[in-house]
Amino acid sequence: MSNRDPRYDVLFEPVKIGPVTAKNRFYQVPHCNGGGYRDPSAAAEMRRVKAEGGWGVIFTEQTEMHHSSEIAPYIELRLWDDDDLPILAKMADAVHEHGALAGTELTYAGVNGPNLYTREVPLAPSAMPIRTYTADPVSARAMTKKDIRDLRRWHRNACLRARTAGYDLICLYAAHGHGVFQHFLSTATNHRNDEYGGSLENRTRLLREVIEECRDAVGDSCAITLRLSLVEAIGELGFSNSEVRDLIEMHAELPDLWDLAHGTWADCSAPSRFGEEAAQRDLIEGIRELTPKPVVGVGRFTSPDVMLAQINSGTLDLIGCARPSIADPFLPRKIDEGRVEDIRECIGCNICISGDMTMSISRCTQNPTFMEEWRKGWHPEKFEPLGDSDTLLVVGAGPAGLEAARVAGMRGYDVVLAEATTGLGGRVARERKLPGLAAWGRVADYREYQLSQMANVDFYLVNELSADDILAFGADNVALATGSSWRADGVSRHHVVPIADDGSLPLYTPDDLMAGKLPAGRIVIFDDDHYYMGGVLAELLAGTGCEVTLVTPSAYVSAWTNNTLEQASIHARLLELGVEIELNRAVGRIDGGRVITECVYSGRAAELAADAIVMVASRSGNDALWRELERRESEWAANGIRTVRLIGDAEAPAPIAWATYAGHRYARELDGPDIGDALPFRREVTRLIDD
Ligand SMILES: Cc1cc2nc3c(=O)[nH]c(=O)nc-3n(C[C@H](O)[C@H](O)[C@H](O)COP(=O)(O)O)c2cc1C
Ligand code: SF4
Repeated sequence: MSNRDPRYDVLFEPVKIGPVTAKNRFYQVPHCNGGGYRDPSAAAEMRRVKAEGGWGVIFTEQTEMHHSSEIAPYIELRLWDDDDLPILAKMADAVHEHGALAGTELTYAGVNGPNLYTREVPLAPSAMPIRTYTADPVSARAMTKKDIRDLRRWHRNACLRARTAGYDLICLYAAHGHGVFQHFLSTATNHRNDEYGGSLENRTRLLREVIEECRDAVGDSCAITLRLSLVEAIGELGFSNSEVRDLIEMHAELPDLWDLAHGTWADCSAPSRFGEEAAQRDLIEGIRELTPKPVVGVGRFTSPDVMLAQINSGTLDLIGCARPSIADPFLPRKIDEGRVEDIRECIGCNICISGDMTMSISRCTQNPTFMEEWRKGWHPEKFEPLGDSDTLLVVGAGPAGLEAARVAGMRGYDVVLAEATTGLGGRVARERKLPGLAAWGRVADYREYQLSQMANVDFYLVNELSADDILAFGADNVALATGSSWRADGVSRHHVVPIADDGSLPLYTPDDLMAGKLPAGRIVIFDDDHYYMGGVLAELLAGTGCEVTLVTPSAYVSAWTNNTLEQASIHARLLELGVEIELNRAVGRIDGGRVITECVYSGRAAELAADAIVMVASRSGNDALWRELERRESEWAANGIRTVRLIGDAEAPAPIAWATYAGHRYARELDGPDIGDALPFRREVTRLIDD
């Protein structure tokens, strides 16, 4: 039932988009999920849950609309022929169940499609090497006039298929450098000298032809929308923001809606470390005045007040969200029900993107149920009532402990959460103070508020429990979420045994720095962790005036952040701060007050003068309490304890998303059936075709 603050009524007004009407202004823009054609039911159920959560429009991820342009190994959706229809239809049907409009984003990848799977020769406006994250050694050939005619027909056919599958909106992808229409629009990728190249009018010709023909094909049943990058800067070339405005002015009524995205995907999905909420403000301001058609924009919108300002200021007609809808599929409903404080805000970590980049399956730090709605039957807002036992003691209030306590509390267990330090959050409480990571604190803030609302959950700070205390407490179940500690001995990937160290240099770990023990002078950071910590600490120390050299055996600074689209921004920021970067080198030993580094290929050694070294190597789980309790298992029953489990970083250190997932899973499965050796999730297996 609606109990919303009337200020937010405007967010719930219907919006006409061509021949269809969205029931409100909440518009889930296309986003992939790492599942795509491989896990279609998992993806469909994820979207169904969002429709239940109140989104007015829900899109698929990008959908490869013809086999001659695909982006394997990335796993998206396909609409190559009628065989793909059931998968597409499943998602549309799921979304319609709750009154949302279903949209699909047709993608012809052009110069972004290496065709590694189909082996077709890629087609693009002009002949050039394929532009992908992996710089595939493949080139596209320039489209002939016949190819262009074919492409127009393929689009008509794809639109008809999308309509058959039940879609209400069909979006053409001309953003992020990923779609052929952008390649035609941009002088960086369109070097043609026929009527499809040269002037803006010519570069827009294909887009205009395709939109008009698609509209003729689908008639009044579907809206045709256009997803356009607000800016593309490739040196002097590229499709600039002023050309975007010229295009919109020239063809103001061409699509049924303008869906405006930032420049590259990395710009558009900027992590909180590099982009704030509503970061596209300057690029989009004034565009709505150029067209009578509705405009949707994005900007990691999690605050209803910021959303409201976008509408009331006349900047946007619809609030586009990808990550906020992943972190909280029920965001619109929570606003509608007057439960704004229950919104689980996206932290902008981009772990969701890593699922796509690693072709695995997406996960979300804030919402552990993301992509487990069908696989495990987890609903983000619904929980099984408690099982045979009643009480749970959670030791440690980091991400895993907080989430275990929250979910067990929702299930109805009497939960006690004991934390050794003075605040909740564990590693998040420490890391949120590092440069650029403040928004990560939402992991703790959301859960702290939720726990504070549950009468059956108590938490105690400054309460370090021993094994004796735990046994004496006598809860039915004990979850040990005692976190992890950074190793000081350099053991990680390059060194599997401790680094040779004569103790001549002060040595710090990330834990030391986060506890406020900061070195000064010339600092070497050895990063063999490869995620964000090495780069963040370099930023921290450069900010305090240290002369920082970051040494890593990898070819990239913070290499794993290639999967969260942050790597280039991290490298650029460190250069700006004057951090020296030594790639492909490891710290070999510490000797006589010097750091001896070695090339990972040749072994060639070099010396670095330093006043201290910071070892960003690996973490060890804090499992001493668990080991002692395990040793004393014979005492459990007499003390009323049925189960003791080690979870999260304490069991196996990993990113925060792994910890919230571990806590969630633990509490979901508490008192559940023993499934033995069975697979703990559902999956879909490729069907065989009889020859
Ligand atoms: C996991 C993920 C996958 C995405 N995949 C697509 C995609 O398939 N097509 C697309 O146009 N944009 C894609 N995007 C970009 C989003 O649509 C959106 O423009 C961007 O994330 C900014 O919106 P947000 O701040 O609400 O996340 C993706 C974003 C995320 C987070
Ligand atoms: S993984 Fe991180 S960025 Fe992505 S939706 Fe979840 S909280 Fe937001």
